[in-house]
Amino acid sequence: MPQDAAPPRGAPASDIDPFTPKNILDPYTWHHELRELGPMVWLSRYGCYFAPRYAEAYNIIADYQTFCSSAGVGFTNFNKETPWRQPSMLLEADPPEHTRRRAIVGRILSAPNLRAFRAGFEVEANALIDRLLEAGEVEAMHDVAQAFVLKVFPDAVGIADGDRMNLIKYGTMVFNAFGPKNAIFDDCMKDAAEVAPWIMERCLHKNLKPGKLGDQVYQAVAGGQITEEEAPILVRSFLSAGVDTTIYAVGNALWSFATNRAEWAKVKANPALVKQAFEEVLRYESPFQTFFRTTTRDVELAGVTIPGNEKVMLNMGSANRDPRKWERADVFDISRDVRGHVGLGYGIHACIGQMISRLENDVLFTELARRKVDFEMTGPVQHIVHNTLRGISRLPMRFKQG
Ligand code: HEM
Repeated sequence: MPQDAAPPRGAPASDIDPFTPKNILDPYTWHHELRELGPMVWLSRYGCYFAPRYAEAYNIIADYQTFCSSAGVGFTNFNKETPWRQPSMLLEADPPEHTRRRAIVGRILSAPNLRAFRAGFEVEANALIDRLLEAGEVEAMHDVAQAFVLKVFPDAVGIADGDRMNLIKYGTMVFNAFGPKNAIFDDCMKDAAEVAPWIMERCLHKNLKPGKLGDQVYQAVAGGQITEEEAPILVRSFLSAGVDTTIYAVGNALWSFATNRAEWAKVKANPALVKQAFEEVLRYESPFQTFFRTTTRDVELAGVTIPGNEKVMLNMGSANRDPRKWERADVFDISRDVRGHVGLGYGIHACIGQMISRLENDVLFTELARRKVDFEMTGPVQHIVHNTLRGISRLPMRFKQG
């Protein structure tokens, strides 16, 4: 479905389709091929540019004035097409509105403000580990990643119990909608009429538990820092961006450790390594892979002239495995210097939920390591077919006392 984009000037073209199930399941082969083709590649099937290497991806994310987010961070160009939902007030916004809202939400999701949640997360992690050791064999995406994140995160936001699978369905819609309108998109949108209003209802002040993160957004309304209309959409951004991303990050961490057992042995021997190990997971198996920017003017990048109002595709998985940036890029090595990875983005739109995601992962894996728990695969892994995220749908595992 090519857009009405101008033909490329100076960029090599490729007819690789990043959004076929085969290429989604094996992203690293085409990432390599396109990185070798050039710093900017023209994706002829979609009529858009792609920056497969680290350096250009980094420069594009850093230059938010030339590569904006307000025309959507998916393939759909909001200047040309109407988005399926009211755009996010953070992810799909530019300064100055973005700056003001981000300051408020950033304070709510900051490490000092989240400290109060740690003890409760630890109680949940230990109860979960008890169940895992008793069960032995489990399906770890459902029984570990979903079980933990769907409990602690919505509780922290202040969402009532019940129907929490709707949070996963909603995240799946939001992130699949960043890709082209293909069969993957159609499939996940079939529940939209039911799930989207359910989410908006949960974001209303009357439905949020007092004192929790969602309620704190509404307190900023009372303080005059944000408007009544902005509050539910900002709470919605916690729910759309914070659930499946973290679930897939936990799953990707379990799988990376289970298939690189020497790395888990290092963590078990020294649980203080959990934090840096999680950063390596975000580099090695980046849960948030593909997103887009839109040019605000004609711009030259790496010798390629990109006209204004064109979509440029980025892929954090490809940038995070670019051998020009990373030695032994395809090796999972928790001892490497992983600073500079873009698994959480970079610059003004860098993940604002990163501290709570880190907290969830830190608590779960620190407790597993502290209690000397071992885990191994008991069957084949199955990855999700998703336009944007890289994650696992089936992860059979055995947990035992090490
Ligand atoms: C490991 C889990 C997570 C990953 C891998 C992840 C990844 C990302 C990435 C790559 C971006 C940048 C997107 C861009 O530049 O267009 C981003 C932005 C964002 N994330 Fe996350 N995220 C995670 C967890 C969360 C959580 C838990 C929340 C909510 C509490 C959240 C809320 C957001 C929001 C609201 C933005 C937009 C920020 C802005 O535009 O200023 N994310 N995330």
